[in-house]
Amino acid sequence: MNAKIQKFSDPATLADSFANDFAQWLGDQSQPIVTVALSGGSTPRLLFERWAGEFAGEIDWSRVRLFWVDERCVPPSDSDSNFGVANDIFLSKVDLPADQLHRVHGESNPDDERTRYADEIDRFVRKDSDGVPQFDLVVLGMGDDGHTASIFPHQMEFLTSSDVCEVATHPTSGQKRITLTGPVINHAKKVVFLITGANKKGVLVDVVKKTGLFKTYPASFIDATDLTFYVDEDAASGL
Ligand code: 6PG
Repeated sequence: MNAKIQKFSDPATLADSFANDFAQWLGDQSQPIVTVALSGGSTPRLLFERWAGEFAGEIDWSRVRLFWVDERCVPPSDSDSNFGVANDIFLSKVDLPADQLHRVHGESNPDDERTRYADEIDRFVRKDSDGVPQFDLVVLGMGDDGHTASIFPHQMEFLTSSDVCEVATHPTSGQKRITLTGPVINHAKKVVFLITGANKKGVLVDVVKKTGLFKTYPASFIDATDLTFYVDEDAASGL
């Protein structure tokens, strides 16, 4: 794995650094509008708070076409909604044009929404030479079971799906989710993992070093060309 690893003392410092790097990255992009896909979970909340706070004036959101890596099949008003969380914390406070906001319709029938969202990505995200939608930036997290996006260990086939999106099932709650698939993530121009927490320590070692049970962890198979792990000390203590 030719990934870069950046370690930070704590989640807040990690979020500060990525918020700064994101602003720098956006400024460095030559194209007028970039495509970005965000994940859910608790770690990105720290990032969203910075985007709403000290970085509010640093980022020209009119240059961003925003998508989600995955979304729970719940209405946006549900506390589980990845869009709902992002909207409450920062989206409602920044000037991202409404026609550049591409949320998953978690309130819709999952199978119908999987097709609709894939069509939306097909329409608005350019394709690379392989004909795969190529996001400019994909922001991922990793669970303590090695899942990423909503690709869980019991659905490893989504890592090689020929479709853009799949309907995933959370292994314990059974909650349905729409998720980008492995090829779409791996074709992105830039992929970052934001990983915090001691409960990820062992999994992260195996994912990065390809040791132990790495083959059972979906995160092990994210091998985008430009891949960076932003990790806090608790998660990185085994590296
Ligand atoms: C989701 C996320 C999921 C998340 C990991 C890590 O919808 O829950 O996309 O893949 O990134 O579960 O979550 P934390 O950042 O909370 O550890």
